[in-house]
Amino acid sequence: MKDFKDKVVVITGGANGIGLGIAKRAVKEEMKVVIADIDVHALERAEKELKKLGGLVLPVLTDVSKPENVEALAQKTLETFGEVRILCNNAGVGGGGLLWESTLNDWKYVMGVNLWGVIHGIRVFVPIMLNQDNECHIVNTSSMAGHLAEPLSGIYNITKFGVVALSETLLGELKNENTKIKVSVLCPGFVNTNIATNSFRNRPAELRDRDIDQETANKEWLETHPKYKSYFETFYRTLEEGLSPDKAGDIVFEAIKDEAFYIFTDTSFIWKRMVKNRMNGILEAFKQNKPYTRETIEVY
Ligand SMILES: NC(=O)c1ccc[n+]([C@@H]2O[C@H](COP(=O)([O-])OP(=O)(O)OC[C@H]3O[C@@H](n4cnc5c(N)ncnc54)[C@H](O)[C@@H]3O)[C@@H](O)[C@H]2O)c1
Repeated sequence: MKDFKDKVVVITGGANGIGLGIAKRAVKEEMKVVIADIDVHALERAEKELKKLGGLVLPVLTDVSKPENVEALAQKTLETFGEVRILCNNAGVGGGGLLWESTLNDWKYVMGVNLWGVIHGIRVFVPIMLNQDNECHIVNTSSMAGHLAEPLSGIYNITKFGVVALSETLLGELKNENTKIKVSVLCPGFVNTNIATNSFRNRPAELRDRDIDQETANKEWLETHPKYKSYFETFYRTLEEGLSPDKAGDIVFEAIKDEAFYIFTDTSFIWKRMVKNRMNGILEAFKQNKPYTRETIEVY
């Protein structure tokens, strides 16, 4: 898609961070912009900000983990704007900890938003796009964590690998079916957003194990896992030093124009080396001349 003017874009998680960055660029492109988010206050803030930039904006309170909410989002979009041409399945939450210590609620929360949210987006919107039979584009947000399964973010990694697999499958199926729908998978490196705080705050009461604030939770966890203190500090610092969400939004639009499937926002040497090591290790193991062992992987 080269021309965006007057076309409709739906962005889940559009009230903050990368989603809002995509929405701002969409306004610049004179698109009709639907922002769907679970955070009602952020949604109001984002609506005001986008309208100030001159945007035609529809905010829709949505929990992407709930199929009926995503169905309602599609209905509201069609009622208001009559079509949808770009869908950004972008809503996501973080979650950390050792895999075997994660609670059932931890699994349900992160899988529900990051993986089921994208699944619902595909289930609901692809048939609409097929029915429209015009040029459309779907951007699913994964992460570098969809390519590198680093310790301490196991559930998150699983969801993001899942989004890469889902997107690659979708790419092939939409090609086989000779449709006009293009697909990309957005795999950001670190982007300067409040994902950690937002994820903690937005977690629904029924999926919380304890009534505790984020600072206390982090402090308690580090007391029982002191060896990971520097990992924590590095994570928060690197997030702060990350790319601006607006720049991420621009990168997404350039990729849509180029019909690029993989969208990487950070092509720095360290990511390339880590992905290359993993891929080479798999290829070597495949050739059966070198086992893929603990020593093959790079962990921070
Ligand atoms: N920030 C990074 O460094 C980074 C890196 C790689 C991937 N990502 C991915 O980018 C996407 C956006 O993250 P971000 O960093 O902009 O975070 P963010 O917290 O700034 O934005 C995420 C938005 O999703 C919304 N959201 C959360 N749960 C929701 C739900 N159930 N239904 C609807 N909306 C919901 C939040 O309210 C928030 O507005 C996520 O999928 C995240 O995993 C982020």
